[in-house]
Amino acid sequence: MQVIIAESGERVGQLAAAKVAQLVRRQPDAVIGLATGSSPLAIYADLARQVRAGDLDCSAVRAFALDEYVGLPVDHPESYHSVLRREVVDPLQMDPGRLHVPDGMADDLAAACAAYERRIVETGPVALQILGVGANGHIGFNEPTSSFASRTRIKTLAPQTRADNARFFASPEEVPAHCLTQGLATILDAAQLVLVAQGTTKANAVAALVEGPVTSMCPGSALQLHADATVIVDEEAAGRLRLADYYRYTYANLPVWQRFEGA
Ligand code: F6R
Repeated sequence: MQVIIAESGERVGQLAAAKVAQLVRRQPDAVIGLATGSSPLAIYADLARQVRAGDLDCSAVRAFALDEYVGLPVDHPESYHSVLRREVVDPLQMDPGRLHVPDGMADDLAAACAAYERRIVETGPVALQILGVGANGHIGFNEPTSSFASRTRIKTLAPQTRADNARFFASPEEVPAHCLTQGLATILDAAQLVLVAQGTTKANAVAALVEGPVTSMCPGSALQLHADATVIVDEEAAGRLRLADYYRYTYANLPVWQRFEGA
């Protein structure tokens, strides 16, 4: 696992965006896995800046969302379908027809999950999966004790996750209790994982996923099982990393084969 400690949240976004942009320049129709929430916003903002400047063309990129709420109509402003249209697809001038999101309104949710897995396999594999992490260590909406073998399925959001996401809704009761999420095994199938985190509220989760035991109690620790995982955090989110000086040293001395544009 590569751990990069950046001087600011904005820089976290720039570094992660550099990895995405490098991939898209190499493979314009690359399949990218998209996270929602606050953490990746700086990535999407930097990619949008590159698109506006004419330095990047995302029109052929194909994308899969990590997760979706159950019971929110697609056109609800907080459905992840709407959020990804607003924050990623439109600003990056992507083709909306190439965005795939689990169907949280399906009559048969289990069948919708299975169909989503099939679509990822048929379209994919995902070349680069963008991830955030919850304060309790979740990735996607794989809450603590999620199986490392899990695939896209229905999950109940932890009370803390519902409370954390209440900021996007008019009242906490409006946050759906259930979601469809890619499983940990689905996420681990991506060729490359890039997880970003900012702020002190993420410091414990970042330390647990990078340096703690591989355990379903911290779903993010699944990244330790992946051969190409990069964790990019700001100083606050890095605050509880025991080997922070080592990560700074290794980044300052990056070997040529680990360098990427913008690093
Ligand atoms: C959402 C997702 C979640 C978030 C996590 C952190 O698609 O994958 O795992 O990344 O809940 O959310 P923020 O970034 O809002 O702190």
